[in-house]
Amino acid sequence: MVIKLLKSIALITIITCSLKAQQVNIIPYPASINIMHGQFTFDKNTKIVLVNDIHNTNQKEVVLFNDWLNNYFGYKLTTSNKIKQNENTIQITAINSESEKYELNIQGNTIKIKALGEGLKNAFESLKQLIVLNNKQNSSTIPCLFINDSATFKWRGMHLDVCRHFFTKEEVKRYIDYISMYKMNTFHWHLTDDQGWRIEIKKYPKLTEIGGWRKGSMVGHYSEHTFDTLHYGGFYTQDDIKEVVAYAQTKHVTIVPEIEMPGHAMAALAAYPNYACTEGPFEVQKQWGVFEDVFCPKPETFRFLEDVLTEVMALFPGEYIHIGGDECPKTRWKTCSHCQALIKSEGLKDEHELQSYFIKHISNFLSKHHKKLIGWDEILEGGIASNAAIMSWRGEEGGIAAAKEKHYAVMTPGAYCYFDHYQGHPTQEPVAFGGYTPLEKVYEYNPIPHALKEEEKKYILGAQGNVWAEYLPHFNHVEYTAFPRIAALSEVLWTPAEQKNLNGFLQRIQGHFKFLDLYRINYSKSIYNINYEIRIDSTEKASLYLNNILFERNITSHNDSIVYQLSENAALQKYTNPVSITQSTQGRAFFYRNGEALGKDCNFKFFKNKATSKKVNFVEPPSKYYNKGNLTDGLLGHSPRINSEWLAWSGKNMDAVIDLIHDTEINTINVGFLKNEDDWIYLPSYVEIMISSNGKDFTSVSTKPVISQELNRYNYLFKIDKQKVRFVKIIAQCAPVIPEGRNGAGNNAWLFVDEIQAD
Ligand code: ACM
Ligand code: ZN
Repeated sequence: MVIKLLKSIALITIITCSLKAQQVNIIPYPASINIMHGQFTFDKNTKIVLVNDIHNTNQKEVVLFNDWLNNYFGYKLTTSNKIKQNENTIQITAINSESEKYELNIQGNTIKIKALGEGLKNAFESLKQLIVLNNKQNSSTIPCLFINDSATFKWRGMHLDVCRHFFTKEEVKRYIDYISMYKMNTFHWHLTDDQGWRIEIKKYPKLTEIGGWRKGSMVGHYSEHTFDTLHYGGFYTQDDIKEVVAYAQTKHVTIVPEIEMPGHAMAALAAYPNYACTEGPFEVQKQWGVFEDVFCPKPETFRFLEDVLTEVMALFPGEYIHIGGDECPKTRWKTCSHCQALIKSEGLKDEHELQSYFIKHISNFLSKHHKKLIGWDEILEGGIASNAAIMSWRGEEGGIAAAKEKHYAVMTPGAYCYFDHYQGHPTQEPVAFGGYTPLEKVYEYNPIPHALKEEEKKYILGAQGNVWAEYLPHFNHVEYTAFPRIAALSEVLWTPAEQKNLNGFLQRIQGHFKFLDLYRINYSKSIYNINYEIRIDSTEKASLYLNNILFERNITSHNDSIVYQLSENAALQKYTNPVSITQSTQGRAFFYRNGEALGKDCNFKFFKNKATSKKVNFVEPPSKYYNKGNLTDGLLGHSPRINSEWLAWSGKNMDAVIDLIHDTEINTINVGFLKNEDDWIYLPSYVEIMISSNGKDFTSVSTKPVISQELNRYNYLFKIDKQKVRFVKIIAQCAPVIPEGRNGAGNNAWLFVDEIQAD
């Protein structure tokens, strides 16, 4: 076992060296680092000397470091409190007070560390990476350097949803290891939701007896609406929680437990229906989503929630308790006599102020017990409770509004921090929630919004990566979706902005993969995935462009190439220049390094037709948010969607005219639409095809498509029977305002279109 590991470590060294790293390979990159001449040889003869460790605080970290060495290298270092000359020594001097800071000074035959507790843990995390990535056989040759390191942000967090899928306490501990190894310090444990209540509450045993279990789960993507019938669930006993909390403390990670209210409460209401507005009965939900039955703000509900929070506060020593507050439909409150009477008696304007009343009540309760409330940004609506902190997830606006009102905020905007999004093209990646958040996007995030004034910036505590588990049935899926994005986020939060460098990070992360291999972490290699694009020039010639982030940023080595094949039986070719495409093609491409394909295969399909490359004019331009797509590039959009493949209109019709340039015989017109009503995207209510020879006088030729479906993409096929046409007009009428009872009720529907084909 150890021999096998050592072999893989030897390989690591070769690969790291070949990456021509400009930087020492440590993630997150230190705040300050000077690389010096010389090397330190780290091996089993290295000694540890502890200086001034009055309360044995550093001794505890040394024990953990030695356990780590033993685990991965099969030896421990001897410890003493006396320095001997001519021995390779790690000399650890305790500083006055504990913090995340540390100094690591590697020179000659001494590694000098100045730190205490958490800081020493962080020094060891840096050292572990240096040991592993510089290891050859039985020793590591570490460059001499001086690191003076501290964190940029205070809240360096990762979230884990254990409700949509349940993870054992051992898996949760591993997750805490991962948080700690990147010098992050906060674990947001999402413990209750519609699909399961996961924390034992002694006073209300049915919360876990009933609320901890459901009668089936969704399989495939939400849009497929299919379920299994398996009894599914699990929960943590209070002893489990205590064990995890104690473990997290040894790793210097604070746990922020989340108990959702007033919405996302179906599992609780399945157990105790009397805390809803209506009588129930309710079920623990199999489906992911937002549910209308929520807690009713009755005195008995508040008593119940306070009892629950009392037990929660006793288990979690951190200062914050997360109370959710997101996605609480007001439907039941609008027709509940108690809720309506409360709105009147409290002089509230509406149900939004009732939500605020609810949160303020809970916030006051937590304050009395010296805890602070944090909630998702919806708790701003109707007025924020004093002392409450905001977790900004619907973009950055919540965090900006909170900071402007002098409330603390943690940034978790979906576009950067939701690690349930795809990290590569959906066709190349396991099913995920949706969205597209590749590694480089996470890396480039800056938690301080531009909109904040200097004096408001201090209210941004930091940021957090969210791992919602709808599509993560097993812990190895959690690893895949979190890694390596967690590494990028750690650098966003730890490393000063002026030290951040995307190219440097993309090079370091490839060496770092070997560190993850040593830990047997199931990480994504999507940085190697190939993207494709068809570009059409002024002479209507189509060319295939292949790329990936490493080529795009010019950080490949001579051993790297993109290899492609234009059809299943065609020869594999090395990509050097854009490839001319003259006919419909179904090919593939992949990244190739030193005889090995890395990342996932990229499969591309190009549909050449009479509309390909022809100009499209719109009466009403598409929304500025979704205007990247090209309707005549011969490429179909995918579902789940990548926004750049689609054009979209909100509450407006698409009125498009294609100029085919010459009179052209056309038999069929195909138009592709997306349907994803949960995301407010509806099929058009009506589509009409018109033709013209002069671009002014149009004749209607069809309003009756044959509709076929592939996942959420709907193809509308119009037969128009050998017409000679020059101009084709497509009018697609956007669906009406979203009806009551649906996601986004009262808002304009969206119309998404990906392609128009003429044959
Ligand atoms: C959330 O993603 N509903 C906070
Ligand atoms: Zn009610």
